[in-house]
Amino acid sequence: MKDTVILVVTGSVAAYKSALLARRLMERGLLVKVAMTASAERFITPLTFEALTGLPVLRAGFPQSGQAPMEHINFSRGARLVVIAPATANTLGKLAHGVADDSILSMLLACGLPVMAAPAMNTQMYKHPAVQSNISTLAARGVTFIGPSSGSLACGEEGEGKMEDVETIFAAVMEKLGGVKDLAGARLLVTAGGCQEPIDPVRYIGNRSSGKMGLAVARVAAGRGAEVTLVAAHMEPSLPGTGTPEGIRVIRAQTAVEMQEAVRQEFVRCDILVMAAAVSDYRVESPAAEKVKKKSAMRLDLIENPDILASVALEKGDRVVAGFAAETEDHLASGRKKLMAKNLDLIVINDVSRGDIGFGSDYNEVTLLTRDGKKIEIARATKDVVAGAVLDHAAAIWRASQAMEQPEAS
Ligand code: CTP
Repeated sequence: MKDTVILVVTGSVAAYKSALLARRLMERGLLVKVAMTASAERFITPLTFEALTGLPVLRAGFPQSGQAPMEHINFSRGARLVVIAPATANTLGKLAHGVADDSILSMLLACGLPVMAAPAMNTQMYKHPAVQSNISTLAARGVTFIGPSSGSLACGEEGEGKMEDVETIFAAVMEKLGGVKDLAGARLLVTAGGCQEPIDPVRYIGNRSSGKMGLAVARVAAGRGAEVTLVAAHMEPSLPGTGTPEGIRVIRAQTAVEMQEAVRQEFVRCDILVMAAAVSDYRVESPAAEKVKKKSAMRLDLIENPDILASVALEKGDRVVAGFAAETEDHLASGRKKLMAKNLDLIVINDVSRGDIGFGSDYNEVTLLTRDGKKIEIARATKDVVAGAVLDHAAAIWRASQAMEQPEAS
């Protein structure tokens, strides 16, 4: 039995984003039932949501004679939570004061479910004491607010009041639901961190990868029920301090060659490989056995390391293989080239020239390209949120390949 979420859409320009939110929730295996206020219908039609979710939409008008009279009560039965996105000042105000002048508000008052709300409105409206007081009242009654964020608003002004982005709302809903084990049965192999190639016993060639992105993929996957093996190069902060969660098997690998050995060994037993590690492209040909003494100049002879990802992806069979592309220029073109050249199903393109995302940061902003030509932009969000999106797409490819293998009996 699937978990059900009620998505309440109210009248804001941001209503079109609710369709994306519905799709994201469904991608995670949830049943999404949509309720729309009358003003929401001026921005987006019920048909859009019915086509997306395959389920009838609860509309604002009270039932006419001959229609199901208790629909506003029955609609939410069995659901886990309600998310109002976008949530207008009007709907929040009515909810705070127990107004039930349409089916949607009646459903909200009668449902008894946890409620989350993603406000969307003009900055002055949002800051108005009446709206703030309604928000405080609702928060005190247990409503969880997601955002709003700041940015340029549909009214042309800049400021607070913008509906939080879909990925963040989605992640907040998933966190609230907890325990959705949609990756149960999947075996994930994840690499993370920066490889270090020794020069001598005390020095190495390294890179700026902190391993946070790969660790987020491993953690989120384990939280969603996958069996996870993490091949960890150098991580910052180091793994014990970051609290590797139960259920993740960790294999250490300092150099590219060590990582290749570990990946090759584990790859045969995995369903999905996510290669987030920053592998050194070169290593010192002959690292010194003793510490090299200071001299006026030093030459290092470097030789090329194996390309771990490309080598395993050559024999991937029906495994799903995802790589990361660390780029500073021509991101999309370089990412697409790596996707094809390394025989990947999915590539996650990172702009590593930006200081506010990527290396060492808790945030990332990426573009995913799939082998079948899809391009998915993930707006700046925490690495956990980005990891969730990467896993959604990798898992979707995996499920599709499994479904092709096991056609249903006719
Ligand atoms: N990778 C790998 N083995 C290497 C180098 C990279 O498995 N020797 C993997 C990385 O883990 C990543 C993907 O390949 O998933 C792309 O890595 P990136 O550093 O962006 O690209 P490179 O192939 O190294 O190419 P370049 O450095 O020229 O951009």
